Amino acid sequence: MKLPSSIKPDNMKNLVNHFPQLLSTLQIESSILDAAREFHKDGLNGICFLGMGGSSIAGNYARALLSKESKIPISVTRDYLLPTYVDDKWVVIAISYSGNTEETLSSLSMANETGSRIIIMTSGGKMAQESKHPIIQLPEGLQPRAALPLIFSAVLPVVESLAGLKITDFQYLEEVLVNKSNTWNEWLSTPQEIAESFIGKTPIFIGSRHLAPVAYRAKCQINENSKALAFHSELPESNHNEIESFVKTNGCSILPVFLRSGLEPTKINRRFDVTYEMYHEMGLNPINLSASGDTRLEEMLVLTHFLDMVSVDLAELRDVNPVSVEKIHELKHRLNI
Ligand code: PA5
Repeated sequence: MKLPSSIKPDNMKNLVNHFPQLLSTLQIESSILDAAREFHKDGLNGICFLGMGGSSIAGNYARALLSKESKIPISVTRDYLLPTYVDDKWVVIAISYSGNTEETLSSLSMANETGSRIIIMTSGGKMAQESKHPIIQLPEGLQPRAALPLIFSAVLPVVESLAGLKITDFQYLEEVLVNKSNTWNEWLSTPQEIAESFIGKTPIFIGSRHLAPVAYRAKCQINENSKALAFHSELPESNHNEIESFVKTNGCSILPVFLRSGLEPTKINRRFDVTYEMYHEMGLNPINLSASGDTRLEEMLVLTHFLDMVSVDLAELRDVNPVSVEKIHELKHRLNI
């Protein structure tokens, strides 16, 4: 498949600007969805994602989004090993943008041995040589993390088919995201303003339920694009541990960034409000970022698009290149992989 001609793969801001278009660019072959429906009919015990870094996050998005509807477990593995509970009644979705990631190749080879049904998503490399399994072909030339909208737009319909659920139409989401991004400054703030507030601070993104993977994605984007330290955590769990760490911060300038949903159930809403209040009293000056959208999926994608742009704006402010991942390459080189 070819990318739209306006896409410049070596320009991260251009890629983030095209996030909405990338959601509706990839056409999944009907044979893949047919195969997924067949797997569903045969009876499945679960779906396990294999992948690392930018290639793994779509699995977390699908898991969080479908947690209420899916009757089968969805797990995400970021390791050399395939969990032992994954057997021939599971479907494994192995994703590696490059197709050469050591950990993913290893867990994929274990999945081959257990006889699990396998679907592969890659742009090339060794994984593209796997002729036994259906392959969703990604376009070459992007950074894996910039391919999230492409990957997710294929992952979600496949998982929905595997779980026997109605398939999401991604065409309308492009329009939703474009409209929302035109009014970011009215309902949120500008990405530039948020990026400025991160200077000299270490953001900790805190989400709950469907916004928990968005918090994790934001942390990874700040690490890789902005070359800056960031963390993530999840409510209600962090109310039972992390909250104590701010009693004595020893001058570390943590900036809690709460990712709020308009669809929060009362108990979660109350926890966010009280946690904000307490962090504020502890002198932390937390930020609330409220997602805007009619559905959980819209909220996830709108906020991801916004925070991806924050990471690129922060890279500009810090004068670093958001595309290069020199240290990741150096490490792979030192490990001889
Ligand atoms: O965003 C990145 O560049 C990394 O997080 C990669 O996704 C990670 O190193 C795994 O590589 P790949 O996505 O090619 O499997």
